[in-house]
Amino acid sequence: MSKAVWIKNASLVTLRGQQGPRSKEAMSELGLIEGGSMWLEDGVVKAVGTTEQLERDFSQRIAEAEIIDAEGRLVTPGLVDPHTHVAYGGSREGEFEKRLQGVSYMDIMNAGGGIHATMRMTREATEEELFEQTWKRLDAFLAHGVTTVEGKSGYGMNLETELKQLQVMKRLNETHPIDLVPTFMGAHAVPAEFKGREDEFVDLLIEEMLPAVAPLAEFNDVFCEKNVYTPKQSERILEAGKAYGLTPKIHADEIVSYGGAELAAEVGAISAEHLLKASDEGIRAMAEAGTIACLLPATALYLREEAAQGRKMIDAGVPVAISTDCNPGSSPTVSMPLVMNLACISMRLTPAEALTAATYNAACAINRQDRAGSLEVGKQADVVLWDVHSYQELQYLFGVNHVKTVWKNGERVVG
Ligand code: NIG
Ligand code: FE
Repeated sequence: MSKAVWIKNASLVTLRGQQGPRSKEAMSELGLIEGGSMWLEDGVVKAVGTTEQLERDFSQRIAEAEIIDAEGRLVTPGLVDPHTHVAYGGSREGEFEKRLQGVSYMDIMNAGGGIHATMRMTREATEEELFEQTWKRLDAFLAHGVTTVEGKSGYGMNLETELKQLQVMKRLNETHPIDLVPTFMGAHAVPAEFKGREDEFVDLLIEEMLPAVAPLAEFNDVFCEKNVYTPKQSERILEAGKAYGLTPKIHADEIVSYGGAELAAEVGAISAEHLLKASDEGIRAMAEAGTIACLLPATALYLREEAAQGRKMIDAGVPVAISTDCNPGSSPTVSMPLVMNLACISMRLTPAEALTAATYNAACAINRQDRAGSLEVGKQADVVLWDVHSYQELQYLFGVNHVKTVWKNGERVVG
């Protein structure tokens, strides 16, 4: 059992407050304690308060703790990334160049590249190779202050490789410091062998894949997009997943407006992702249903698209989370700090809203709000000490990794 950690003199953003996804003004309430302090022990947060309070309450035990004097620096919960495709084989830098010459993301995909290219490379990779490549990416997440990551399958699109991806994620969750939350995304594209027979693939996915993958996944995600899966097909897959205990998520309205936001509200999805082209009606439906909008501004930038209407969604009452979308095609990054910067710059979130979106609301989007996303007594001691002095400074100084120290379950894992 490692030593207790006493953090003192921090600009401490606790994110304590309202339970459940936060919307409107609640996204700006950060539970900030200037001169803040925390006691971490047995992997959890034992106390949170001012430095004077904790100095008094723990006076008998301070000598046995590791003392971290933050000297006024910012301390936040570990960041949570609620949407990634982190377990993939190979890379696609050639496509990056093609897209810069003007070829579109969907044209590349429809010509057999894009997701299909990564599918081939992921099918070819051994379980060990996939494990090692993904381990490295998780290390990079940790170095950027991220302590919980969701990961999707979807580069197999056959049972064998979907299981391989999910199995690798299970082993990584057990062995890597990061918590990795698994999502099945068999409906990520239509595999070439099923082109023109999409409904048959949907049948296969429902009848053969879902029962086999369900024990390894918590969520069920679909790429609901023109020329990929229709809202009707998406609904069938998501409803079938519910019967196996899988909670729906949807890649919705990314490339064209396609009714994805509306469908997310209708099927009771925990979140809808991307939403670059979400309709006003869809935004209203999500606000009413309490569906979390998981917005991915790094993807929009990388695809040279207009970002989602984050400001409008918050004002309409939709709880907003943000994520890297880490994947080899549309967003090869692990930098949640960059995503927070972009949420402010390209979607006009305030620095406070961006932080809520990357911590507490992100935890809600993957059903981890009971243990991650805020610094409250009894929750996991997932903590980041940043080399800046306020959360505003963190969002302002962009493109730099300000992480100084990261604790995961009370263990120092970075710095
Ligand atoms: O969220 N849009 C679909 N899926 C991913 C991209 C996956 C890829 O290009 O490999 C996304 O952007
Ligand atoms: Fe994605």
